[in-house]
Amino acid sequence: MPHRLISFADVAKHNTKEDCWCIIHGKVYNLGPFLNEHPGGVGPILKQAGKDATEAFEPIHPKDIIDRFLPKELYLGDVDPTTVPEKSVEESPDAKALNMTKKPSLSAILNAFDFESVARRTMKPEGWAYYSSGADDELTLQENHAAFHRIWLRPRVLVNVRTVDTSTTMLGTRSSLPLYISATALGKLGHREGEVVLTRAAGTRQIVQMMPTLASCSLDEMVAARATGQTQWFQLYVNSDRKITERLVRHAESKGVKGLFITVDAPQLGRREKDMRTKFVDDAPDVQRDGKESINRNEGAARAISSFIDPGLCWDDIEWFKSITKMPIVLKGIQRGEDAVLAAKAGVAGIVVSNHGGRQLDTARSGIEILEEVMTYLKEAGLTDRLEVYVDGGFRRGTDIFKALALGAKGVGLGRPFLYAMSTYGQPGVERLIDLLRDELEMVMRLMGTPSIKDISKDMAVVKNLSSHVGQAPADSLYRQVYERQSTIIGSKL
Ligand code: HEM
Ligand SMILES: Cc1cc2nc3c(=O)[nH]c(=O)nc-3n(C[C@H](O)[C@H](O)[C@H](O)COP(=O)(O)O)c2cc1C
Repeated sequence: MPHRLISFADVAKHNTKEDCWCIIHGKVYNLGPFLNEHPGGVGPILKQAGKDATEAFEPIHPKDIIDRFLPKELYLGDVDPTTVPEKSVEESPDAKALNMTKKPSLSAILNAFDFESVARRTMKPEGWAYYSSGADDELTLQENHAAFHRIWLRPRVLVNVRTVDTSTTMLGTRSSLPLYISATALGKLGHREGEVVLTRAAGTRQIVQMMPTLASCSLDEMVAARATGQTQWFQLYVNSDRKITERLVRHAESKGVKGLFITVDAPQLGRREKDMRTKFVDDAPDVQRDGKESINRNEGAARAISSFIDPGLCWDDIEWFKSITKMPIVLKGIQRGEDAVLAAKAGVAGIVVSNHGGRQLDTARSGIEILEEVMTYLKEAGLTDRLEVYVDGGFRRGTDIFKALALGAKGVGLGRPFLYAMSTYGQPGVERLIDLLRDELEMVMRLMGTPSIKDISKDMAVVKNLSSHVGQAPADSLYRQVYERQSTIIGSKL
């Protein structure tokens, strides 16, 4: 039976909170009953009430999300294309294409920070805010970088380093470098093609990509974009509805995914205020509001999080995961030695020591600092060989990567650097970033007297100050802006 055709003018009439229709990819949905369930809050949908929401929806949701999560009865029919006014037609992809003229040439980019600085200047504000933000005062975000300054290196000399081999094995997969692309949601906020750009670059450079549950591209699209023999892992947010989770896991496995990374540091998403500000400063025009939107949003988000990300996830669930998949299971977001020991005892294949790029618990310690503690606990418990230990957070330089390997990590994840490289220069940008990191790591390995990864050892890194935070506090930006400094009797009169 042909779908019911609805005129554009008809859709426009349903533009209130109680009666909220939207067009997405030519289909008309009644999103009123879904408003309070929407994980992104009531506001973004209300802004689109009665309109074509495709452009607002597309960059931040996987293509198949509606099929997977929206109750079928909320689909009302298709918009009658003959009634669609000119200006609501979607902007062509070319118009959204990267504006290369504003940017330095790619060959002038020398390090990860260069990509970040270009991204900051050229990305759309909402994309930049989502990618760059951290939780609360962003102390952990900054500490992820600062902590590397508290480790110093002890090179060996007179070692034959004519050839240096940066390749290694992670979860049984050969990788050209001891690093991987970590899972980061919403790739289309930075690049119109989204995460498939990362897939392709990972393929040409032979490194692993961890695909996020909340990618803008569907898992199938990312799988289709991979080269023959290329390895992908899947990052999982565990849904309260375990049937949905089971379906996702089985689907990933059937598509040849080689590792399941369960995120364990996000029973609730952190408050990322830079990001929140870009979303909520402007009011939705022409839409009936009741003045309670922010309250509703919080309620809606809390409710939605409890269904999209289950705060009830706990150690007892690990056995169930093992029963539904043969993929190696890795827990992403371990932050203390005791939990690393529990993970080893639970029989998982690995852990990622991570604070989620400083986006979850502020004043949590840096990944590199936790790594040192975790390796010590595992060693004391005699469990070092039972699982592989990965780490992420703030890795930007070859020296950072080297330090993690010296402390015992099997590999290192990077999040934002890949997003910035992708958002600014697309696939060639991501490839250049990987090449630069390879050059840096190769140089460090040569200067350290370590021709291969297995030659890197703990005695090469001085870590005695790593866990000391005295005098090293990251800048507390908000506090500094609002704090009125005290002054002496003379100072106050100046
Ligand atoms: C008018 C249509 C829609 C608009 C404008 C919209 C907009 C948004 C926005 C702005 C976010 C926040 C992203 C962030 O955290 O930065 C979001 C998140 C989300 N939306 Fe929508 N949305 C729409 C419809 C839908 C529908 C129909 C579904 C599912 C059936 C959905 C599922 C989600 C999910 C799962 C998230 C969470 C992503 C995350 O936490 O990172 N949305 N949406
Ligand atoms: C924009 C953004 C989105 C992210 N989304 C997810 C996610 O959906 N799931 C997850 O487990 N980790 C997510 N992370 C955390 C990363 O996987 C990784 O732990 C972190 O980015 C590493 O820190 P770095 O950005 O300093 O390299 C995200 C990080 C960023 C920056």
